[in-house]
Amino acid sequence: MSETTAPHPTLPAIELVRSQFPGLHDDDAALDGAAGTKVPQAVIDAVSGAMVSAMANTHGVFAASHQTDQVVTAARQALADLLGGDPGGVILGPNMTTLTFHMADTLAREWRAGDEIVVSSLDHDANVRPWVLAAERAGASVRFAEVDPQTGELPTEAIAAVLSDRTRLVAVTAASNLIGTKPDIPAITALAHQAGALTYIDGVHATAHGPVDVAALGADFYACSTYKFYGPHTGCVIAAPELLERLTPAKLLPSPTAVPDRFERGTPAFELLAGVSAAVDWLAGLAERTGSPGTRRERLRESFEAIEAHTQSLLARLLEGLRATEKAELIGSPRRRASTVAFTVGGQHPQRVAEHLASRGVSVWHGDNYAVELVRRLGLERSGGVVRASIVLYNTQAEIDRLLEAVAEL
Ligand SMILES: Cc1ncc(COP(=O)(O)O)c(C=O)c1O
Repeated sequence: MSETTAPHPTLPAIELVRSQFPGLHDDDAALDGAAGTKVPQAVIDAVSGAMVSAMANTHGVFAASHQTDQVVTAARQALADLLGGDPGGVILGPNMTTLTFHMADTLAREWRAGDEIVVSSLDHDANVRPWVLAAERAGASVRFAEVDPQTGELPTEAIAAVLSDRTRLVAVTAASNLIGTKPDIPAITALAHQAGALTYIDGVHATAHGPVDVAALGADFYACSTYKFYGPHTGCVIAAPELLERLTPAKLLPSPTAVPDRFERGTPAFELLAGVSAAVDWLAGLAERTGSPGTRRERLRESFEAIEAHTQSLLARLLEGLRATEKAELIGSPRRRASTVAFTVGGQHPQRVAEHLASRGVSVWHGDNYAVELVRRLGLERSGGVVRASIVLYNTQAEIDRLLEAVAEL
């Protein structure tokens, strides 16, 4: 390597990474990360540390309340560093689905009959149904951008085909939780903005798989769930504070009127927010580097580049192995994808396949994984959907091989 080339950040030895996750066990190949990852000890310590400290409700005049205020502020800052946005635009909530229903209700207050909303058949239902139901109530119509069922791609042209000057919102995923497809979000948001529409990007699956920059994506709103990237079960939506200032969510009379607090309902799970900051810090400290430490955002970028390199190499091994078994039929062949693979096995019901894998110590999900429109579009609704294997940072080559051996037995 030339001396002028910056060394590529790498992950520590996989055994060292895994040793930090008490929930990982060698007899269980946890290839179910897309449904929620295990958490490192640092996150567990932060959550329990918050619960044993003198935490109180927020916005009081006494020390314990100030401490909780700081936990909330820190979580907003951590997520802003992770996603590349403004902490003043980080809306915290229980999960992405709840937040998206809330944002849909809020945005739909301004929709009228004749307005149009664009959703996609690539998306998890949490980025479809809230918009469909809100549009119905407002008298707006919904247009579906359709996935190519052969390739599993959502081409930018599929969005262009359903955009018009009446489009108010384009809701689309940054990565499919079923087949991994990563649509060209900057191109899609540019088109949406030209048409005068806002964009709501589902980052729940994408955030675990690589560096995120909401500005570069052109996301007016970007939603994600911290339990998909080694944190506790919470969610967030990030947007520019100026955009949030223009919106009026339904809220209790005495609850805060300022942005972003006015979008948050009820009392948050403060102890979990302590865990969110710990997860982001843990991720920022993950990659091994030889240069200067840099800001937390810079360190996060390096860690996610290292995570991506590791998971993409395991993905290549999995895809190659599944092709080689000649037993599995891979669903879709997207060019840009997260390390998530859907397949079926020779007419066998996906649940039966998942049960066999479980008997061999391999945990995978089966069914539609809530990507109901995609499973319909792929024609797999009646046959029980797919088997989904999802690779995250703590997975190993040996786990991929165990899955391949178990598939070969079927
Ligand atoms: C791509 C995607 N979007 C949205 C969701 C819903 O997220 P939450 O469980 O935080 O409501 C999920 C959950 O699996 C998902 O994978």
